[in-house]
Amino acid sequence: MEFEKLNEALTFIRSFYKEQPKVGIILGTGLGALVEEVEISLTISYQDIPHFPLSTVESHAGKLIFGKLSGQNVIVMQGRFHYYEGYSMQQIVFPVRVLKMLGIEYLFVSNAAGALNPDYKLSELMILEDHINLLPQNPLVGKNINELGIRFPDMFEPYSNKLIDLAQEIINQNDDIKFHKGVYVSVSGSNLETRAEYRYLRTIGADAVGMSTVPEVIAAVHMNLPVFAVSVLTDLCQPNNVKPITLEEVLKAAAKAEPKMAFLFKKMIEKL
Ligand code: HPA
Repeated sequence: MEFEKLNEALTFIRSFYKEQPKVGIILGTGLGALVEEVEISLTISYQDIPHFPLSTVESHAGKLIFGKLSGQNVIVMQGRFHYYEGYSMQQIVFPVRVLKMLGIEYLFVSNAAGALNPDYKLSELMILEDHINLLPQNPLVGKNINELGIRFPDMFEPYSNKLIDLAQEIINQNDDIKFHKGVYVSVSGSNLETRAEYRYLRTIGADAVGMSTVPEVIAAVHMNLPVFAVSVLTDLCQPNNVKPITLEEVLKAAAKAEPKMAFLFKKMIEKL
């Protein structure tokens, strides 16, 4: 049973980690540098945790990092799991479920995404206000895990307004950071989209497109865990302005935006 597996992972981690964590953080592709600012007290490789999936993408390191950031206890997932890697939805959301069972009160997520909104520029950031799930599966399909949440969680506020307001407060005090607020659409990948698909995604109401985040957010909402998520815009997918892109370019654009994202996360976490 899934809940028993989660409990085994929890028990294993609890044998090393005795703190009360406040925030769980999932760092996206090319966005791992925030870890360097964590006062690390403990690191556990995914491969050592019972039932944890293993990272396959080279740009993802694959460990849980425990420590303090801005004076708060945080657990950072360095490396996340994507649907395109072949993981099941249950595997993709397994870590975030364990983090909630460890006691996190907030989930912070970052990802690399393509910009569909024509007003967005490379290496700018978008705070997620809402999403559209175009992944072919959903982590809540199957027997409901009643210990975690209800069968039909509503998606009225998938991204916490309280956390978005807090972000806005910080942005208002620092005019050098520009953040958009918008809608993220998740697709399976692993190919990037065709121009016709970008046009379609823009038409249905999305501002940015990526291959992650939504499964974890759905699992978090199911567990009543408030989420704050940011997309780093690593390529332009505006139908009239699309160029071929490489992973190197995505990582370069992510690295350029990373300090702004890290600054926002740190300032917000300080105020929680
Ligand atoms: N499409 C999908 N996922 C992405 C993109 C994109 O253009 N850029 C970064 N992740």
